[in-house]
Amino acid sequence: MASLLIKNGQVLTATKTFISDILVIENKIAALGKNLEKVDTHTRIIDAAGLYVLPGGIDAHVHMELPVGEGQYSSDDFETGTRAAIAGGTTSIIDFVTPESGQSLLDALNERKKVAKKSLCDYGLHMSITVWNESTPEEMRTCVEWEGTPSFKVYMAYKETIGLSDVHLIAVMDTAAKLNARVIIHCEHGEIIRYLQKKFLSEGKTSPMYHPLSRPPEVEGEAVARALLMAKHTGCPLYIVHVSTQDAVEKIVKARNSGQDVLAETCPHHLLLDETEYSRPGFEGAAYVMSPPLRPKHHKKALWKALRAGDIQTAATDHCPFHMKGQKERGISDFTKIPNGVAGVENRMALLYTYGVLKKKISLRQWVNICATAPAKIFGLYPRKGTIAIGADADLLLWDPHTESTISARTHHHNCDTNIYTGFLIKGNPHMVITNGTIAYETGTIKVERGSGCYLYRQRL
Ligand code: URP
Ligand code: ZN
Repeated sequence: MASLLIKNGQVLTATKTFISDILVIENKIAALGKNLEKVDTHTRIIDAAGLYVLPGGIDAHVHMELPVGEGQYSSDDFETGTRAAIAGGTTSIIDFVTPESGQSLLDALNERKKVAKKSLCDYGLHMSITVWNESTPEEMRTCVEWEGTPSFKVYMAYKETIGLSDVHLIAVMDTAAKLNARVIIHCEHGEIIRYLQKKFLSEGKTSPMYHPLSRPPEVEGEAVARALLMAKHTGCPLYIVHVSTQDAVEKIVKARNSGQDVLAETCPHHLLLDETEYSRPGFEGAAYVMSPPLRPKHHKKALWKALRAGDIQTAATDHCPFHMKGQKERGISDFTKIPNGVAGVENRMALLYTYGVLKKKISLRQWVNICATAPAKIFGLYPRKGTIAIGADADLLLWDPHTESTISARTHHHNCDTNIYTGFLIKGNPHMVITNGTIAYETGTIKVERGSGCYLYRQRL
């Protein structure tokens, strides 16, 4: 019987901090307490004195090998991306199924599961609804009741490909509400964006700087308000992804205070970077092209405040990297052709610790909650994951708060030739990462193989 005994760590959960041993038997936490004993002579003892021991991170918004047309994919596949996740202390990810035109939700789900099989850590999938037709409600029911996929992603932007009209957004929300499922929504006013993009291009304005100018803050604020209105009247529980503006936060808080079930996510890049990155020389700003874009500085303050107050519940990465060479540079003479997305899955826990906890913007327990417990609860994984408790999966992060390092594309595990956090000083790092009772990362080395992760069947609300 495989077992680990983690001694004298400072255990952190979303609600408690205490010194304890943790006994892991097979893939589960079997005991917590002082002076725990080995199970047998093979039990490996891990000295965690001076370390924090917290539940492994859960990144509920990533896009590994996302097809973006013309044979291009986001540059991390499920193997390289989950290797990076583990190296950064994240032990579960939730990616997306994006059905192709004419493909049923279930066929798309089965195909995506095959692609995701090479993951090193456990993975769940949100189902994207990219078209609405008469079979959609029944297929959504199957996703929720049989496939462990009780969350549906919809896009208000990208109307020419995967975005939905308001009529169809309402239909998805109405169906999800009846199924006790949650709708995850990308809020940007797609038509205004398209109008501004075309206008800039026709004026010869082609550089990355026009990416944020074609997606100004009110494009998000308006879409958030409209999404909230649709959710209110359909009674649909909502999760708003990558919230980037103060205006969006205010609208979300107002709706929640009036009784709506609305949850929100922000991303490390919106907390830590701002729109000045797009003024970098030449084409360098392309590395920062993601949607919604980086914002004027004052929004960062509002987002940190919202995280601290619990007005925003999670910080996910929207991990969707593209190499500068050969991928981002496809948009060198047309900013609308720069693939949208950045890397971050490896850096999330460390950034939130260094720039959140150590800068006193969030507490240690909030760090655990924002990065692990809240996403587990919201997306049907709790209490199996997202906490340290007897019977929970042994997904553990042993965090050494005493180290220092600097983020660099030369040393990260992401398969990407750039890292938007290059030069960020990091305090603290994973000392060891355990996934399902197996040591997955130790002293800088990944110890688990391609295919070690499993598909996560998730509970509905
Ligand atoms: O820029 C982004 N967010 N890329 C990933 C795809 C999406 O819109 O979520
Ligand atoms: Zn995304």
